[in-house]
Amino acid sequence: MTHENDIKKAGAGAMSSFPDAGAFPPGFLFGAATSAYQIEGSTAADGRGPSWWDRFAHTPGAISDGSTGDTACDHFKRWPEDLAWMQRLGLRAYRFSVAWPRVMPAGRGAINTAGLDFYDRLVDGLLERGITPYGTLYHWDLPLPLADAGGWQARDTAQAFADYAAAVVQRLGDRVARWATLNEPRCAAWVGHLEGRHAPGLQSLPATLAAAHHLLLAHGLALQALRAQAPKASVGIVLDVKPYTAAAPGAEHEAAVRRADGVFNRWFLDPLFRGVYPADIAAEHAASMPPVHARDMALIAQPMDHLGINCYTRGHVLHDPARRHPHAAEQHVPGAHYSTMAWEDWPDGLTQMLVRIHREYAPKALYVAENGAAEPDKVDADGRIRDTARTRYLSGHLAACAQAIAAGVPLDAYLVWSLMDNFEWGRGYTQRFGLLHVDFETQQRRAKDSALAYRDFIAAHAAAQATARA
Ligand code: FCB
Repeated sequence: MTHENDIKKAGAGAMSSFPDAGAFPPGFLFGAATSAYQIEGSTAADGRGPSWWDRFAHTPGAISDGSTGDTACDHFKRWPEDLAWMQRLGLRAYRFSVAWPRVMPAGRGAINTAGLDFYDRLVDGLLERGITPYGTLYHWDLPLPLADAGGWQARDTAQAFADYAAAVVQRLGDRVARWATLNEPRCAAWVGHLEGRHAPGLQSLPATLAAAHHLLLAHGLALQALRAQAPKASVGIVLDVKPYTAAAPGAEHEAAVRRADGVFNRWFLDPLFRGVYPADIAAEHAASMPPVHARDMALIAQPMDHLGINCYTRGHVLHDPARRHPHAAEQHVPGAHYSTMAWEDWPDGLTQMLVRIHREYAPKALYVAENGAAEPDKVDADGRIRDTARTRYLSGHLAACAQAIAAGVPLDAYLVWSLMDNFEWGRGYTQRFGLLHVDFETQQRRAKDSALAYRDFIAAHAAAQATARA
């Protein structure tokens, strides 16, 4: 079956549940996101060095299906085809990450020009198709030599990151206007250093807090480097945020909500926008904190141009003293829909987080840098993938964005995670988040019904804009 045939089969009837496209202002960008290690493969091509994710994925038992990112979606070779898919879907924005080990295989020092050439070609291809590139400088693939020198627990890694960021922006900054320094420092610190499910696979609170602080420092130093290199660029960070609700009435459960929110959300939002760690959680963590130097917090809290949020689900919790701090046990919501990640589809949470961040932290602009759902997709005999749960998830979360805009939130883009099925970190290839289905044996891509519904919604937005202009 050709791609053209594939793409013409519209997701019949799915449009009805999408919000009115006119609720999104002109210039609002709809797109999709990916990250380097999850899609590129070709981990030794053109001088790329190893990252700690290469080592972690090759560690027996680390990845649930025993897989690695060695091939992933083979995007390093198939990028022209992937650009063609983005164009067919009418995407107006594409968020990708630059792999640090392609650009600086040793982590610092010599630049590998061939590594930068890849992103150069990708960016030109996006611009030729009218797709706005959103560059992310770190999506978790730390060069192995830096990992061996202490990783994010070493304060020096922050300066190495700023130098690498400057090198990337020197090459691409004339064409890429929107940059995020880091993707999800919370996940990088907590899941990698406390839960041990991501590289480097540690389980230590001091390591977690040191990594988190040095990631924030890396963001601050990179922000300075980017401002010097590309004064006109719009620069920010991408945070994972999660609304918490109490699963039962009672002051102890409300207190658990506040603690969980403190660890997940405020631990990053407060330093970045107020220059302080939240006092309640800082008191809890005092004995495990790394040294914080006098000027660190001012560096971390420099003004940004925008904030990207990754928001997927909520934490519905009960106070549970038997668990480690924040003593919160996640509960299932009866009757709710859960993805294969066991994440609840709860669009209200996205509206709540957007409105709250706007009111309490007032970033100049906000965008949804990731949102999407993993579902048990299957290719039917007729070649279609009838992923109605994903279409429902996306339309519900787009409606949640429209509500936030109506409430005054300066939201300017929405990016689906993910353009295509890919390597979902510790869960390998078991979780399919894509708008495009990927057959990992043949590397064939197919548009799922949700992709076609999203395409039609984006087209409706373009049509509403054209009508408004006429
Ligand atoms: C986010 C990550 C992204 C992807 C999604 C499902 O935490 O940024 O790479 O794994 O979750």
